[in-house]
Amino acid sequence: MTQKTGRQDKVLAVVNRKGGVAKTTTAINLAHGLSRKLMRRVAPKDLDKITDRSNLFQYQDTYYYLLGHVLLIDFDPQGHCAHGLGIDTGKADIGDVLLEQRHITEAVVSADRSAEGFPRPNLWILPASDNLEHAKDILRAQAFAMPSTKNYGLVRILEERLAVALDRFTYIVLDCPPALDTFTQAVYQFADAAIVPVKPDYFSMAGTGQHISSIFEAQTRGIDIRIHTIVPTLNVARQKLDQQMVDELRELHGNMVSQPIPRSQAVAEAPALQQTIFEYDPRFLNPATVAYQALVDRVYYG
Ligand SMILES: Nc1ncnc2c1ncn2[C@@H]1O[C@H](COP(=O)(O)OP(=O)(O)OP(=O)(O)O)[C@@H](O)[C@H]1O
Ligand SMILES: [Mg+2]
Repeated sequence: MTQKTGRQDKVLAVVNRKGGVAKTTTAINLAHGLSRKLMRRVAPKDLDKITDRSNLFQYQDTYYYLLGHVLLIDFDPQGHCAHGLGIDTGKADIGDVLLEQRHITEAVVSADRSAEGFPRPNLWILPASDNLEHAKDILRAQAFAMPSTKNYGLVRILEERLAVALDRFTYIVLDCPPALDTFTQAVYQFADAAIVPVKPDYFSMAGTGQHISSIFEAQTRGIDIRIHTIVPTLNVARQKLDQQMVDELRELHGNMVSQPIPRSQAVAEAPALQQTIFEYDPRFLNPATVAYQALVDRVYYG
C-alpha cells in the first residue's frame, strides 16, 4: 500500500472496481458536504469585522464566509457527476485539461445553483465526457514516451496538469469509474487516500461458501492506495447478510469502516432532481442524510 505522509488527506478518490456500488452518489454527497463545512454563517454584527470581502457570499438575507473551496473531478466518461448536480458542463472536460487543450480554469465549472434555491458557492466540478476515453489513449502514449517506470508517467502528467487545482482547492474528490486500467490506477496514485463504497453482493457469494468480507477484498483487488474509509452502502439493516457484512468489515478493518449508508429512495431520487442528499433532505429526517453527514465529518480535517 502506498503511504503518503506529511499532509492531510486533501485528494480523495472514491474507488471500487465493481460497478453500481454508489461511488458517484458518495462522491457527489461527500464533495457537497465538505463544501458546506467550509461555509460559515456570519452574524450581521460581525460583518464589519471582515476585511477580506472576497470570501463573503450572500444568499437571501444571510452572509456566509467561505473558508475554502471543493473540486469534484469526474474521471468516468459517463459524466454522471454534472448531471447529478444539475450542472451544464459547457464545452471542456477533464480530458481537454489533461491534454493541455484547455487551461484548468476554463474547464472547471461552478456547481452553484443559488438561483434555483441551491446555494453551492464553493463547490466546483471538472466534468467528464466521452472525450476522456480518447484523451486516455493519447495520455498513455505520452506517458509511454516519458523516462519513468510503471505508471509513474501518467501520475506525473496528472500531477503537473492538475497542479493549479491542488493549489487552489481545500479538498478534491475524484469520482472513479468501475475499471482498473492503467489510467485509473494512475488516478488512484494521484490521490492521497481512498474512500471505498462497498455493497453486499449476494450473487458472487451464492453457493461458494465465500466469507462476506471477502466481497470487499474482491471489489478492491489491485487497488494499490491507502484506504481512508470503507463505506458500506445500499445497506438494509434488517437484512441479515447486510448486517453480517458490516460486522465482518468492522472485525477486520475496525474504525476504518464508517456508519453504513442505508438504502433509501431519497438517495436514489435526489440526483434525478439534481440535488444532493443535503438539499433533498435539509432537515436531516432521513437516516441516509445523517449517515452521509457522518462520512463528511470523518473526512473533514478542520
Ligand atoms: N443509499 C442508496 N439508496 C438507494 N439507492 C442508491 C443508494 N446509493 C446509490 N443508489 C443508487 O444506486 C445506483 C448506483 O449508484 P452510483 O451510480 O452512485 O454507483 P457507481 O458505483 O458510481 O456506479 P458506476 O460503477 O456505474 O459508476 C444509482 O441508481 C443510485 O441512485
Ligand atoms: Mg459512478
